[in-house]
This record gives sequence, structure tokens and C-alpha cells, in this order.
Amino acid sequence: MSTTRAFVQSLPRLRVKPSRLSRSIAQHVQSRSYSKLSVSIPKRFATKSAPSSRIPSLSRPLSTSSALSHGHVDPPKPGEELYVTFIDKEGASHKIAVNKGDNLLDIAQAHDLEMEGACGGSCACSTCHVIVTKQDYYDKMPEPDDDENDMLDLAFGLTETSRLGCQVVMTPELDGLVVKLPSMTRNLQSSDFK
Ligand code: FES
Repeated sequence: MSTTRAFVQSLPRLRVKPSRLSRSIAQHVQSRSYSKLSVSIPKRFATKSAPSSRIPSLSRPLSTSSALSHGHVDPPKPGEELYVTFIDKEGASHKIAVNKGDNLLDIAQAHDLEMEGACGGSCACSTCHVIVTKQDYYDKMPEPDDDENDMLDLAFGLTETSRLGCQVVMTPELDGLVVKLPSMTRNLQSSDFK
């Protein structure tokens, strides 16, 4: 039986009245030989069904973490603490004991302070903007490189002692550092300008 006839005969069962349109569709299908088409999927893309023993139980509890709690820093060993103080947007001080080598973004996020860090510390946004409160501490820091300066230019409320928190690494010289979190940050990223 031809494909056209088989198709047209099946139409009443589908409660569709054969029409000129349905016939022409059937003829089109036949002329293109779609019925002979076959698709083979390479083995490496074939999906295997997981053994039922490996399907996690739906009763397993889920846990979530706050979007701001991404930084991780280890608590310093006794006698090795360096101190940094963050002044938050409400003016409250948070004095934190940290390790040499920790950066301000990780410290702030590990202590649930409001520092977004939209680019994950890759110097491609300005959402980790901090203002160093004392010029002498600012002068002890290595100079910002070109990438940091470019991002700082986009920061809201830029000051003479602004830095990006992810680029400031704690050293013994910076023990006692005090930084202020700006009242707003601007989430412009370097990718917005490509
Ligand atoms: S987190 Fe994006 S520049 Fe610091």
C-alpha cells in the first residue's frame, strides 16, 4: 500500500476529514521519502538509564546557602592574627581577625558582610569597592594595576583611597586596616563594554 493511501486511510480514525491539504501533505511526505530516513546517534552521546539504586531518594533534605556567603577563609592561629575592620553601610564596625594572604572580598563574604563580588574576584566588576579610611594604610598597599583602575573608574562614589576588595591582600603591614563599604555599588562589568 502506498504511503499516501495509508496516510489518507488513517485520517478517519483520527477524526480528521481528508482534505486536499492533507492529501498534499501525504504526497509531500512520500516524495521526500522521510519514512526512509534514519538517524544514528554516536555511542558516546547515547544516554544510559541510571540504575535505580543510584537515583537519590526524594526524601533527602536539601540545604541552601545565602548568596552572600561564598567567601571562605580559615580562622587564624593564635598569635598570627591580623586585624581588619569593615564599616558597613549602616555605619557599624566589624573588627575581624584574619590570616596573612586573605583578601578583603573573601573576608567580607565569609563574615556575611554586604560585599557582592559579582565577578568572583577576577577584577572585572566594581561591586567589591571599598574605601580605605586612612591614607597611610592606602599608601602601604601595592599600587592598583591597570585592570583595577579601569574597574574603579566605574565604581559608584569613587574616592582618592578607593580600592577593589578582591585585590587587597592582607599583609602584616596592613594589620589594623579600616575600610568603609560604600553606600551603593554599581554592577557594571568589563564584559558590558565588549
Ligand atoms: S569582585 Fe569583581 S572586581 Fe572584585
